[in-house]
Amino acid sequence: MKLIHVVGARPNFMKVAPVLHALGHYDAVRQIIVHTGQHYDVNMSDIFFQQLGIPAPDVNLEIGSASHAQQTAQIMARFEPVVLEQKPDMVLVYGDVNSTVAATLVCAKLLIPVAHVEAGLRSGDRTMPEEINRLVTDQLADLLFTPSVDGDQNLLREGIAAEKIHCVGNVMIDTLVRLQPQAEALWPALQTRFELHSSYGLITLHRPSNVDEPSMLGTILATLNDVAKDLPLLFPIHPRTRQRIHHHGLDKLAQRIQFCDPLGYLDFLALQAHASVVLTDSGGVQEETTYLQVPCITLRENTERPVTVDVGSNILVGRDMERLLEEVARILQGEAKLGAIPPLWDGRTGERIASILHAL
Ligand code: UD1
Ligand code: UDP
Repeated sequence: MKLIHVVGARPNFMKVAPVLHALGHYDAVRQIIVHTGQHYDVNMSDIFFQQLGIPAPDVNLEIGSASHAQQTAQIMARFEPVVLEQKPDMVLVYGDVNSTVAATLVCAKLLIPVAHVEAGLRSGDRTMPEEINRLVTDQLADLLFTPSVDGDQNLLREGIAAEKIHCVGNVMIDTLVRLQPQAEALWPALQTRFELHSSYGLITLHRPSNVDEPSMLGTILATLNDVAKDLPLLFPIHPRTRQRIHHHGLDKLAQRIQFCDPLGYLDFLALQAHASVVLTDSGGVQEETTYLQVPCITLRENTERPVTVDVGSNILVGRDMERLLEEVARILQGEAKLGAIPPLWDGRTGERIASILHAL
């Protein structure tokens, strides 16, 4: 069986690694990695290949940054000849980024089966570009691997045949479980590097709804700067957000916050594990904090990962900055919601996916 894995953006790499490793145990499976080049900075891409032990991509489409339509179209145009040449038996796509939907559309037209890893997640919010990607990818995919049962329910409601759906658990958590000991070994050096000698909070923000509009971004930064009076805050800053802060001259609103470049997986995992609170709008970070049972405050009105709220340590505060301050205060008073770990988030999702694929 010949498989192509398509990845392109930071959150894809933690998802492909366990599937690649698990399929590596089957001699009859030949695997090809296609990197679209959606993310290309060393600390948004290469560092994850090194740290997660992912082989170098066989093909890099080098599409880079562009508008949604241009980026999606360019991936399609450059991926189609790869599929025609390689003639894979199946293409695996991950998560909800533009690379995911673009590759899926190409395969659907070429009648190549697609398996979607992390299928079925829905925020119900079509202003989110990722929601469009999820809806289209899941309608076209032939095999749908969901991280939790809410995913199965969403897919069944949308008319997807039950036999295509497999609830396999959360593949990102496989990577976390495998690399947690390595991450932990880096903690003393990180403490020194970022001067983290008491409790601290960790921030990630990159959703267009939070960072693209200067008044919203300014309000968030000013609020976080207030939080930093009582709790040191470290913000490894996504390139999109860095650009917006500089472009709109918002740096001065956040002078108490310690900024740094985006971090590698191991550093960021260690920093999550030791944080008193993580403030985020990332999908993956909501899940990782749930597994780590670290309090997470999500600056979004909705989440496609409701299990992190219903079962895990996640709290949605939306755009309500008063609520954000109240929740941080509650956590600092020792009243944090720690939650529990959802079913099948056990580090073995890659194995389950591989055995289903192998049995086809
Ligand atoms: C993308 C995904 C989002 C995911 C996020 C993870 C889509 C629609 N969005 O958003 O779902 O949560 O990745 O990080 O697929 N840039 C760089 N260097 C890079 C990559 C990007 O400087 O290596 C800058 C560019 O200016 C670019 C901007 O960041 O225009 C946004 O990049 P893009 O891939 O379009 O979207 P993200 O916001 O990263
Ligand atoms: N991450 C990282 N370094 C950082 C910020 C995040 O390694 O500086 C990891 C994080 O641990 C998680 C993944 O990136 O595994 C989440 O990706 P991101 O937030 O970019 O995308 P999303 O999950 O929102 O689509």
